[in-house]
Amino acid sequence: MFVEQNVPLQSHNSFGIVAKARALVRVRGESEVRELLADPEYGSIPRFVLGGGSNIVLTGDVKPLVLKVEVAGRRLIDDGPRATIVEAGAGENWHEFVTWTLDQGYPGLENLALIPGTVGASPVQNVGAYGVELQDRFESLDAIDLFTGKTFTLDAAQCAFGYRDSVFKHMAAKEGDLGLAGRALILRVRFRLPKPWKSVLGYLDLQRKIQETGIREPSARQVYEWVCAVRSAKLPDPRVIGNAGSFFKNPTVTPEQCQDIIAREPNIVHYPMPDGSVKLAAGWLIDACGWKGKSVGNAGVYEKQALVLVNRGGATGGEVVTLARAIQTSVYERFGIRLEPEPVVI
Ligand code: EPU
Repeated sequence: MFVEQNVPLQSHNSFGIVAKARALVRVRGESEVRELLADPEYGSIPRFVLGGGSNIVLTGDVKPLVLKVEVAGRRLIDDGPRATIVEAGAGENWHEFVTWTLDQGYPGLENLALIPGTVGASPVQNVGAYGVELQDRFESLDAIDLFTGKTFTLDAAQCAFGYRDSVFKHMAAKEGDLGLAGRALILRVRFRLPKPWKSVLGYLDLQRKIQETGIREPSARQVYEWVCAVRSAKLPDPRVIGNAGSFFKNPTVTPEQCQDIIAREPNIVHYPMPDGSVKLAAGWLIDACGWKGKSVGNAGVYEKQALVLVNRGGATGGEVVTLARAIQTSVYERFGIRLEPEPVVI
């Protein structure tokens, strides 16, 4: 096992914040984790699992031992009559994996194109975009227990997926509780791509593309290109402008709360949910409070999408957190709604 000291993390977090890992181990498979557990010096110290770093805000050097997930590989598991099952190592880049599936002729992930991050991070927050969530295409995953070194497999029910949520985001408070945060390191993820393929085009931005192009029955490749175009037009490319995608979750309220807000704010963007609740567009709430284009130090609110906080160059994690808190306060004061951040602050 090779432990690297004082490793710069700027290129390992999509916000591009300057920070270091005091110590870092690259995990390419089960064996590194088992070696680590057996190590007299590093075996029992606190650890932090780092995937693509697309959902974190670093507020200083990372003191726990960083486990940088670099498990590679992409393969076909089964091409049956009702679904294609494909597998990818947790360290694979998500977008490259989506592109690979389409190149191989396995459609189904096209709506999730261009989401930053790694395959291993995708189930943690149940990534979703343009009408498809990871849980809609999930088959199972292999993970390793960071305390015992045992590998285990979880199906969708065991992952307890919710909106930008899963068992991997929750800490077990006591024995028997559901919660694998800090405990499991995801090694490989398998996806179920249903046959026959059906496009998912309900999202407004994709409907607009149909209108613009006149293509009523797009291929999976066409949907992929539309999704890439829509995302590129309104979301900053993290390689150019540091960011962590949507900084807050879209909040849900009761229909009564929603009516109350509509009475005061008739233009509020809201979507009725199947369970009777109403989802509000956090980007709209933030925009309505006048935050678009504003900054705190070098952290700012993206000009084209108020839900995205950006690094304007040299931002610190502290600046990002201060900006996020100021946004939360003003949205709460105006709408009575508490916005919940998506990224993890470290
Ligand atoms: N809006 C504004 N002003 C803004 C931003 C948005 O008025 O500054 C309005 C838009 O006009 C639109 C509505 O808010 O009517 C929703 O905006 P958008 O379609 O951009 O989607 P979103 O709800 O802001 C969510 C996901 C994105 C995902 C898109 C597309 C969350 C937290 N975010 O954004 O996910 O790509 O839908 O499905 O659910 C991510 O999680 O990092 C992410 C980018």
